[in-house]
Amino acid sequence: MYYHRLGNIPPKRHIQFRQPDGSLYREELVTSEGFSGIYSTLYHKHPPTRIKKIGEPVKYGPKKIESYNLRHTHLNTSRLQTTGKDYLTARKVLLSNNDCSISICSPSERKMNFFYKNAEGDEVLFVHEGGGSLISPLGKLEFHQGDYIVIPRTIIYKLEFNEGPLRLLIVEAASPVETVKRYRNQLGQLLEHSPYCERDIRPPLDLFADDNKGDFLVQIKKQGYLHQYTYEHSPLDLIGWDGFLWPYAFSIHDFEPITGRIHQPPPVHQTFQGHNFVICSFVPRLFDYHPLAIPAPYNHSNIDSDEVLYYAEGNFMSRKGIERGSFTLHPGGLPHGPHPGTAEKSIGAKETHELAVMIDTFRPLHLTEDALEFVDDNYPMSWTENRGDFNEINAP
Ligand SMILES: [Fe+2]
Repeated sequence: MYYHRLGNIPPKRHIQFRQPDGSLYREELVTSEGFSGIYSTLYHKHPPTRIKKIGEPVKYGPKKIESYNLRHTHLNTSRLQTTGKDYLTARKVLLSNNDCSISICSPSERKMNFFYKNAEGDEVLFVHEGGGSLISPLGKLEFHQGDYIVIPRTIIYKLEFNEGPLRLLIVEAASPVETVKRYRNQLGQLLEHSPYCERDIRPPLDLFADDNKGDFLVQIKKQGYLHQYTYEHSPLDLIGWDGFLWPYAFSIHDFEPITGRIHQPPPVHQTFQGHNFVICSFVPRLFDYHPLAIPAPYNHSNIDSDEVLYYAEGNFMSRKGIERGSFTLHPGGLPHGPHPGTAEKSIGAKETHELAVMIDTFRPLHLTEDALEFVDDNYPMSWTENRGDFNEINAP
């Protein structure tokens, strides 16, 4: 991430900075990885420590399935309408391990009457359908279909969604979610070979500087509970901030694909990294152009990782069963590859219009109880049947 500032801040850190009535603004330093990671300095109208009430915590989190056979899994979530009422009840974790979890979220309510803070995980929201605004003390961040929204842990926020179809894919990470290390120089600037650069990363704009008092509920997620904290002032009371730690949006449509004469490996699609997992974007692109190229991917044994693909857009109707909104999980320990006939039929194809998000984890994922209703029992045998036509799924 890069340095950004918004609103009014004093000329130096940790010095007197006074409000119009002569009282001090309240400085809050938000640091990651102790004091070794990125950080931001926030200036509040009110002390961020001042609370009115602590309510009873509410149990919150997925129920893992411990005994699930080793098999390729297709979770078809294409037909779901809504997954719950508000943003938090609608977040359904389908796959998880100790490093990250993968959820689908389609709330029926378009506005939140509370704030939310994830105190233990960074979050990446992929906006498959819908748009709206992320409201946080650091400002307003508008998002659109196709955006990734990266929200560092401890940022208080709420979401306002536009009317219309709404579907979010959410990755929650136990570690910081970062741009890819090999894309950066030693000072953190994104390099020439990076598929995106700082211009593509959108910071929050328009501080609220809200001085309202009242009851402001912040639900704080930590260790399997939502802790109920009521503040006596609006959390949106910042007058200014600066630093490297802030929520941002990045559109998958701004990811510039890397192509080659022969099939390029999945790391060229990498978009973000976390500890023990990566997030990749498969976007519309030209196919391989060697005269003997086979655009369809080869069979692959991923011996160290579980591979999850979320199919967002493209012509995958010809792959029986896979639909817009499908997940596939190809676990480590089993080879996966193109369906029968696909490699031959891909020869000569010039381009793909697919849009897919891949999450590869280096430790096994567990299905959750919420995932079971979406399991396609026919998928493990789908390489044995003759499934026919080439389709645009080129992601591995
Ligand atoms: Fe693969």
